Formats: sequence, C-alpha cells, structure tokens
Amino acid sequence: MTHWLQEPPPTAGLPLSWRDFVKGSASLEHDLATFTGQIDAQIECSGTAAILVALTTLKRMSIRRNVVIPAYTCPLVPLAILRCGLKPVLCDTKPNHFDLCPESLKAVCDEETLAVISTHLGGRVADIKSTTDIATQVGAYVVEDAAQALGANWQGQAVGTVGDIGCFSLGVGKGLTIYGGGAVVARDKNMRHQLRTTSAELASSKSTWHHIMWEARRLLELAGYYALYRPSGLKLAFGLALRRNLKKNKFIEAAGDDCSADFPLHRVGLLRKTIGASALKRLPDFIANTSKQALRRKSLLSNIPGIIVMDDNIGDVGTWPYFLVLMPTQATRDLALSKLWAARLGVGRLFIHALADYPYLTSAFDSSDTPNASDFAARTLTISNSLWLNEDDFMHICIVLEQSVA
Ligand SMILES: Cc1ncc(COP(=O)(O)O)c(C=O)c1O
Repeated sequence: MTHWLQEPPPTAGLPLSWRDFVKGSASLEHDLATFTGQIDAQIECSGTAAILVALTTLKRMSIRRNVVIPAYTCPLVPLAILRCGLKPVLCDTKPNHFDLCPESLKAVCDEETLAVISTHLGGRVADIKSTTDIATQVGAYVVEDAAQALGANWQGQAVGTVGDIGCFSLGVGKGLTIYGGGAVVARDKNMRHQLRTTSAELASSKSTWHHIMWEARRLLELAGYYALYRPSGLKLAFGLALRRNLKKNKFIEAAGDDCSADFPLHRVGLLRKTIGASALKRLPDFIANTSKQALRRKSLLSNIPGIIVMDDNIGDVGTWPYFLVLMPTQATRDLALSKLWAARLGVGRLFIHALADYPYLTSAFDSSDTPNASDFAARTLTISNSLWLNEDDFMHICIVLEQSVA
C-alpha cells in the first residue's frame, strides 16, 4: 500500500523535470501546433481563457448569441459564455454518457445558435461528427472543448482540430501543464487571424502591471508544481485540503468546482512557454505509457459486474488521465466513495453536479431539464491513471468497487 506520507494525483499529469527550467525549448506555439498537426497554436492563460477568446471571436462574426453546451461539463464553461455576453443553452447528454445527445441537440439548436461546444472529457473522444452534422444544419460553429484531451485522436485526427475552433487546457493536472495555460487552434487562416486579434485586444485592455503580477504568480506556482507534483508532495499540495473539505461535506470545493466568473485574463510569459515546450517533448512517451497501463487496468475494471468504464468509439484513440467509471446507482457510487475518496488512492469525483444543479449557476439557464446529465453526475466516480498508483492499491480499489456493487 502507498506509504502514509504519500498520495497519487487524481489524474495523470506529466511531471516536470528540472531540465525544463534550465534548458527550455524554442516555441510552445510551434511545437503544440506540430503536436496537433496544425500550422499554428495560440497560447492563452487558461483553458477557460481559450474558450473565452474563441467565443468572443465568433460573437464578432455573427449576430447570433446562443452557445449550446453539454449539461455535464466544467462549470467554468458557462461562466466563460456569460462573461462573453452570450447565452449558455443546455443540451442533455446521452444516457450513461457525458456527450451531447443528438436528439436533445436537434431540439435546442436553431437560427439563434452561434456555436455548439463538443467536449472531450477525461481523454475520452466525443462524437464530433454527429455534433458537427447537427450544428451545420442550423449554420452554427463547432467549438471543441479538448481541455482534458490534448493528444487524443478522433478517427486519426487530433481532437480540437475537427471543429471550427479547438481549445485545450494546460492547467494543473492536465497532460501538459504550465500551471495555468491554454491553447486555441483553428484550421481556417482567417479564423486564426481573428482569434489573434481578439486575444491581443483582450490583453491590451489590462495594464502591464496586471500581466507582470499574474505571470510572476504563475511562475512561482509552476516552481511549486515541479517541487510537489510527486507522491511525497501531493499529500501536502492536494490531499490535506481535499480531506478537510470532505470532512465538512463540502463536495463542490473538494472537487475544485467552486468556480468564479472572475477568472484571470493575462498574457503568458516566454519563460513559462519555454518550460512547457521542453516538457511537451516527453508528452508522446508519457501518453504511450499511461495508455498501456490504462488498457490493462480498464479490462480489470470492466470485469466488475454492473459498472461501466467510459471508453472511445471504434477508430478513436483517447488519452487516459483517469478512468471515468459509471456505477449502477448513486447509492453504490456513494458507498464506494465513502471508502475510497479520502483514502489517498487517487479516487474521486469529476464534476459534482450537472450544470443546472450548481447553486451559483441556477439563474444562468432558461431551461434546465437535463435528467441524463444529472444521473451521470450522480453515478460517476474517477480513478487516477497515474503511473504512481501502484498495483496493490489499484486492486484494492477494484475490490471495494466489487463489494459496493454487490
Ligand atoms: C471540460 C473543461 N473545459 C474547460 C476547462 C477550463 O480549463 P482551465 O482550468 O485551464 O481554465 C476545464 C478545466 O478543467 C475542463 O475540464
């Protein structure tokens, strides 16, 4: 079992090396573009900022104002939509899934729809084709939220590069991190130009001091991440606050879902970009190693009667930061979590609620009838696919899940 001083991370993020700080590498924009098979990638200060830049750009190109999002996703997404002065419209998910339900999508899309956001959650690849077909019929743009899926492929093509605009997160716990960061890609040259213009305008509305302070803070946090993103540091950096929140039944805080519309917007400095570009060189091997572990462990999990491990459609190859596991009922999920969440085993929850069920989002949506999304939120748990989660601990998790279902 994991030593009492140690803790695996809840998701498998790429650890930094001291060499990333001293050697660096030339251009994160260029290297990330090459990694995703694009000509250019634009770096933003977070995945949320990337979405905000994407939607602000689309808003300038159209008089439409509605943005359709899956009813189960990161709460920062509707907050970003609202901050753009746009209207988030919920689309229910497919039963037992996080992806947009095609029937619900058809029902909510109309001539007011500016964009549909297709979300690849936890490295799993969404059905972007079906979403694009429906969005195209009403003349809406498709934005891919690939915040959690850098390196995943849809039918041989990098996720984020299939729709009109793709957004990635380089935040803490993601495959590649610069502590706070994001990236935007677009196939169309004019769209890339518009995205750059929007980003520059948003940045120029802030003072130089604002940019310097945020960058200094993020650099320090990145150094802290280097120091503590390891089993011996994660208990301090992550586990103590988690268990404090769980003790007080503060589940939204425990899952990091206590989001605010007041997220920062600032430029990302060259030093953090060079650190990220250096780490990016190790990402393909890291994805290969974590995928190898995931495929083996996924088959063990899938053998447990009654549970569903979220997987990809044929032809899609996702990444595996963690397993998204759907339990048969909320009661079995809660029983398993009562034994595992606080136990330093990398088990937890993704988003606590369907979007409409967050107290701070209730007034954000006109309609909130999304039963599949609420059911998905009530029955899912996550299991880290960190290479630091040892075999004994993983088998212990499997046994607890089996007992909870039984
Ligand atoms: C699906 C999804 N979209 C957007 C975001 C926002 O990314 P960031 O935290 O980098 O702002 C996240 C964050 O985890 C996410 O999971």
